[in-house]
Amino acid sequence: MFDFFHLYSLKEKYNLKDPNPSLIRRLKRLRESKKGAFLDLGCGFGRHLEPVAKEPDISIGFDCSTSALKATCSRIRPSCFVVKGLMTGLPFKEGSFSNVLAWRSIYLQNIVQIDLTINEIFRVLKKGGHLVCSVRATTNALYYIGLEKGHEIEPGTFHFNDECGDLIYHFFTKEEVLKRFYKFRIEDLQLKQLVQTPFTSYRPEFSNDFWIFSAGKP
Ligand SMILES: C[S@@+](CC[C@H](N)C(=O)[O-])C[C@H]1O[C@@H](n2cnc3c(N)ncnc32)[C@H](O)[C@@H]1O
Repeated sequence: MFDFFHLYSLKEKYNLKDPNPSLIRRLKRLRESKKGAFLDLGCGFGRHLEPVAKEPDISIGFDCSTSALKATCSRIRPSCFVVKGLMTGLPFKEGSFSNVLAWRSIYLQNIVQIDLTINEIFRVLKKGGHLVCSVRATTNALYYIGLEKGHEIEPGTFHFNDECGDLIYHFFTKEEVLKRFYKFRIEDLQLKQLVQTPFTSYRPEFSNDFWIFSAGKP
């Protein structure tokens, strides 16, 4: 599998290193209201894992990239662990986690893989647990860049194969978020701009729009 982080560390371009402050506040509130294990799905450099970790509960950073997990290991606490794998098949028992974070990660797949991942998140969450998620919107800069330079392999999913790598991105409408996460109780669904990466910052005329929401397991 393509290693997202290997490419970025080679180019010293990867800029998602500092935690998002409002996300940390949101996760801390959730973790206070429901104790239990925490899973950061597609954790990257683990920028949200360590600040949210709360002993004695365990926190797990999950990613398919060895270089990302090595970087995560350098900044974690004793209650944090890392696991390597693909998010379409999670190596955890049903109901293992009170909270799952999927931040800027699940849309790096095609629709079949995204649906498998959503089912896996639902399975590993405890009843009453919450997912906090961000997915790229169809108003996102990269969607327009995809229309210009990518190859649309299915509705809303682009294959990019250029100097930035060999990657797949799926873009969501609001209706699609509600449709794909239908098993969850969606709360606080908002369109927000997030920090640009080198993929989008060279086109400042477009915004970096994401759908951000919490999703409870009823
Ligand atoms: C854009 S980075 C975001 C990282 C982190 N969530 C953050 O906000 O800093 C996406 C991460 O998802 C991981 N990833 C992408 N597809 C994956 C998959 N199918 N299974 C596991 N990890 C995946 C990548 O390796 C990368 O670390």
